[in-house]
Amino acid sequence: MKVGIIGTGNVGTALATGLSAAGHDVVVGSREPATTTVEGVAVATQRTAAEHGDAVVLALPAGVISDVAAALEAVLDGKPVLDAANEYPVAGGAESLAERVAAAVPGAHVVKAFNTIGANRMTAPVVNGAPATMFLAGDDVDAVATAASLASDLGFEPVETGDLSAATHLEHLARFWIYLSQTYGRDTAFRYLREQARS
Ligand SMILES: NC(=O)c1ccc[n+]([C@@H]2O[C@H](COP(=O)([O-])OP(=O)(O)OC[C@H]3O[C@@H](n4cnc5c(N)ncnc54)[C@H](OP(=O)(O)O)[C@@H]3O)[C@@H](O)[C@H]2O)c1
Repeated sequence: MKVGIIGTGNVGTALATGLSAAGHDVVVGSREPATTTVEGVAVATQRTAAEHGDAVVLALPAGVISDVAAALEAVLDGKPVLDAANEYPVAGGAESLAERVAAAVPGAHVVKAFNTIGANRMTAPVVNGAPATMFLAGDDVDAVATAASLASDLGFEPVETGDLSAATHLEHLARFWIYLSQTYGRDTAFRYLREQARS
């Protein structure tokens, strides 16, 4: 599918490279497209990347993600918008970062995704022979299914956790990943084991 990725940092580059290798038509968006390169992937302005994507990933710092999303609101309207951002320390009280992003782009279908693993394993999510779980949270069923499909194409086992209010748990889980990685290193990932399918 056509995927736009906003941000050319660790996460944006990893997802652009991985999704492109999986056969998706990816454009990555940068503030400095003339001087930014991502190997094998087209680089354009953030707006052009957002226009290109039938799904758009926001791979941006927590401090700017809502403002950048709001500036692209008309372009993101009606699209799955995957929020990979993490906030450390938490700035929003009880409300998750993903819910604040959703409030900035009320017409978009925000899904929390790709925030609970290090960028270094986003294109290599099989650890010790087992695919890492990619936890997803979002209100729009189709948008969550799109995120699940992209995660699956990267080699993850996608798990749909619930509506966007569940994003708060995924953001806490990411902070736990950061804590664990200080002891166990960045080649570490979560895998969700359960006996029962989703009810
Ligand atoms: N690093 C990880 O392992 C990891 C894993 C999971 C989730 N996350 C989360 O994912 C997000 C991105 O992480 P990252 O490591 O890729 O961050 P990063 O390396 O700092 O990259 C973020 C990118 O966002 C763009 N950007 C920065 N400031 C901006 C601004 N003021 N306005 C518009 N665009 C701006 C920049 O791209 P251009 O310069 O090309 O515009 C930058 O390369 C963060 O919220 C992080 O917490 C990170």
